[in-house]
Amino acid sequence: MMTTAIIPAAGTGSRSGLSQPKQFMKFGGRELIVWTLERFQNCDEITDIVLATSKESIGFLGELADKYGITKISGIVEGGAQRQDSVYRALSSLPSSYEGLIAVHDAARPLIPPDVLSAGIRFAAEKGSALFALKAKDTLIQKGPSGIGYLNRDNVYQVQTPQIFRYKELKDSFELAYKTGFYGTDESMLMQNAGYSFEIFEGSVFSFKVTGPDDVELFRLLSSAD
Ligand code: C5P
Repeated sequence: MMTTAIIPAAGTGSRSGLSQPKQFMKFGGRELIVWTLERFQNCDEITDIVLATSKESIGFLGELADKYGITKISGIVEGGAQRQDSVYRALSSLPSSYEGLIAVHDAARPLIPPDVLSAGIRFAAEKGSALFALKAKDTLIQKGPSGIGYLNRDNVYQVQTPQIFRYKELKDSFELAYKTGFYGTDESMLMQNAGYSFEIFEGSVFSFKVTGPDDVELFRLLSSAD
């Protein structure tokens, strides 16, 4: 089945403590976004890649793709104000007759293990969806007005990306969200809001999102050992 990766890379990285967007910072000799793109370029189950980035970075991203042989890029669009807007712009660049799957993946998750990525896409091809998520390992507590409560960790997951859905269902979910002014922090929230169900697929601890200074440090350590 055709599977298009949408990779939003238009964030400003204000939480990372870095002076420039983290996706363009070099780690172990190459830009963070290149690490992510290589995982998708080398994944046999991925047909093509659409990127969203800031207007000023479109040319630079094209240069990086040439330099590192990322040949699967079929489009680079200008991102929007929020992650959701960036993904929607990329999604809207595809023909409305598209019949395949869409795998939305954060640019800032550069270390998704190749075998996990491939297995998740094959799972989605069979089941129609795959929400990559990590089952909780630690004891989980929730602070409330009357003190601390304990969550049943057997039912709690930390949601990651990629999030793989059928194009038509995802597009429909985005359109409903914009019609009603709904904003979610990921695509699964939009799917749920539109009444679509989806399957969970066990992700990987290596696929952490490079967000704050600690993640930047962790990725620096892991990338220098590569
Ligand atoms: O901000 P957050 O950590 O949720 O960002 C997740 C991904 O979405 C990052 O890869 C970031 O570059 C991207 N993003 C985007 N457009 C925005 C904000 C974030 O493409 N306006």
